[in-house]
Amino acid sequence: MTDIDWDALRASAVRVAKLAYAPYSGLQVGVAAIVDDGREITGCNVENASYGLGLCAECTMVGQLRLTGAGRLVAVACRSGEGELLMPCGRCRQLLYEHGGPDCLVDTPSGILPMSRVLPDAFGPEHLPA
Ligand code: THU
Repeated sequence: MTDIDWDALRASAVRVAKLAYAPYSGLQVGVAAIVDDGREITGCNVENASYGLGLCAECTMVGQLRLTGAGRLVAVACRSGEGELLMPCGRCRQLLYEHGGPDCLVDTPSGILPMSRVLPDAFGPEHLPA
């Protein structure tokens, strides 16, 4: 799928960032992705008074991926509620890799890059014993 509307995807990420529950960090994070069947999914961060339990936006998005028909991520954009480009944290890069693989495209400060550049030499399911 090459016809990604990146501006629309970024706008969706900003829109859902404003739905975040982030009273502790004050950073509202939104993420939007295109799935290989063409649908768009989104997620926002959901924090907790027990700080370490907070969920990143990518976590809630992967929940939505599974709940709305599964599939593979093909394009991902992450933004703050103020429209700033944010990169997925290390843990979330692993999460995106699991559900999108090395060819999933990510909006980065260096341009649109595949996950193979965002998480080089990734550990993945292929490294587990059969
Ligand atoms: N956060 C995300 O939602 N995704 C990331 O990839 C980086 C960090 C959230 C977690 C926390 O609620 C807030 O940003 C500040 O770290």
